[in-house]
Amino acid sequence: MLQLLSEGIIEIKVNGEKRRTLVRPADTLLFALRERLGLTGAKPGCENGDCGACTVLVDGWPIKSCLMLAVEAVGHECLVPY
Ligand code: FES
Repeated sequence: MLQLLSEGIIEIKVNGEKRRTLVRPADTLLFALRERLGLTGAKPGCENGDCGACTVLVDGWPIKSCLMLAVEAVGHECLVPY
């Protein structure tokens, strides 16, 4: 498991492409996708896990990206709507 103690670069696979981005340890996957990678298909709604507007597929499983840390996506494949 990747441990990120300060801001650092992670690599995640998004829509079949390896992407690198700078994140802080507490950045959510939703934040990294939208603000760092410019993939705005996952929408911020409640940002506490209730609405599902931020849902993406991680290794084929629907995940609320507002509840998952960006660093937790390392080594997994994300499928994000355009
Ligand atoms: S923004 Fe509502 S569940 Fe993620």
